[in-house]
Amino acid sequence: MLAQNENQLLTGVAARTPMGELMRRYWLPALLAEEVPEPDCPPVRVRLLGEDLVAFRNSQGRVGLLGEHCAHRGTSLFYGRNEGCGLTCIYHGWKYDVDGNVLETPAEPPNSDFKRKIRHIAYPCKEVAGIIFAYMGPALNQPLFPRYEWFNLNIEQLCPVKSCLECNYLQAIEGDFDSAHTSFLHNNNLQNSARLKRDGAPSLEAEDTAYGMRAIAIRKVDADRIYVRTSSYIMPSFSIVPGPPTEQFDEDDIRGFRFWVPIDDRNTQLYILNMRKKPFTAAERQSLRSWIDADYRRIRNAANNYLQDREQQRTISYTGIAAVNPAEQDGCATESMGTICDRTKEHLGYSDKTIIALRKMLLKAVNDLAEGKDPPHIIRESNNADFSRLRSVKGVLRAGRDWREIMEGLGPNDG
Ligand code: FES
Ligand SMILES: [Fe+2]
Repeated sequence: MLAQNENQLLTGVAARTPMGELMRRYWLPALLAEEVPEPDCPPVRVRLLGEDLVAFRNSQGRVGLLGEHCAHRGTSLFYGRNEGCGLTCIYHGWKYDVDGNVLETPAEPPNSDFKRKIRHIAYPCKEVAGIIFAYMGPALNQPLFPRYEWFNLNIEQLCPVKSCLECNYLQAIEGDFDSAHTSFLHNNNLQNSARLKRDGAPSLEAEDTAYGMRAIAIRKVDADRIYVRTSSYIMPSFSIVPGPPTEQFDEDDIRGFRFWVPIDDRNTQLYILNMRKKPFTAAERQSLRSWIDADYRRIRNAANNYLQDREQQRTISYTGIAAVNPAEQDGCATESMGTICDRTKEHLGYSDKTIIALRKMLLKAVNDLAEGKDPPHIIRESNNADFSRLRSVKGVLRAGRDWREIMEGLGPNDG
């Protein structure tokens, strides 16, 4: 349970709020590269951290992210003309470049230098792994871009997808830090009732790391073996789906990096970056996005009760919600809490130990920033580590072994 002011502090992402300022110190996914597929293609609306923006790809292929409303009198630049290396407002022809400079004000007298006095809202962008990342914080504080495993993969080995959740980012990402729910929410085989008895109540640990936190869940398999699952929370709101504890990819092994990006206080954009050693085929790409429609909306969503099937719930799966991607079942659990979960009404137990640690870590990060210190995982030259071995892992160990042994396959530095 949190006090009301703490809940507000952690869930509010607008500009000039403590968490909003924290979020603005990191590179955040703003859209998929495929949404602006070619130079001079139509611009797209983007809402990020409560701000309405427009993304466009200019004639040279550079992506710009501008305030949606024209600096002149506020017409939406979404309707603008994208040509000649700039985005032009359709009302009086003011033209902007990707850096927010006003290039033309054709309705002003020819000798006017009005345009030089105006700078429109424009956030720097980087295109990596099929995702356009934006930095919305103070220019002087702009960090380096962290070098994760996917940073150097080529686009054939990557398949990013996204979907919007109608709830606050924190309750959404808390699901990735809550190992206990997997035995219930994601139990798609009720026949295997031994599973619930065996691993319904794991023993839990949490530890702070340089990049955020790691949660550890340990389950007893039998008298001789334990099953270990670790989950990494990467600041400000990223996570990694647990996979085998190997440094290299196995041929068919798909890893998933997740970004839970606040659209505003009540909506979250989930980006899942699937990656694999072997290139993805077109059919595989199709299948990895078969749970969303052409507008990136989940086919199973709150408006249709997630297509829950009560007969399936009785006979086949714990939820009765079929899932191509587990995020569909998670979506039901987290959206149905209400758009901003009221954490003053919770009853937290042992199984929430890692969530409690996570909230504490985030509150400390917010306080650190308020005191002028860099929060965790702001990358500068001085701490520019190699994060390519940063993973969440799962695997079986002999009973009595230290859970850390599960990460030995990763080598000495996991970031
Ligand atoms: S409102 Fe955009 S140019 Fe006038
Ligand atoms: Fe889940």
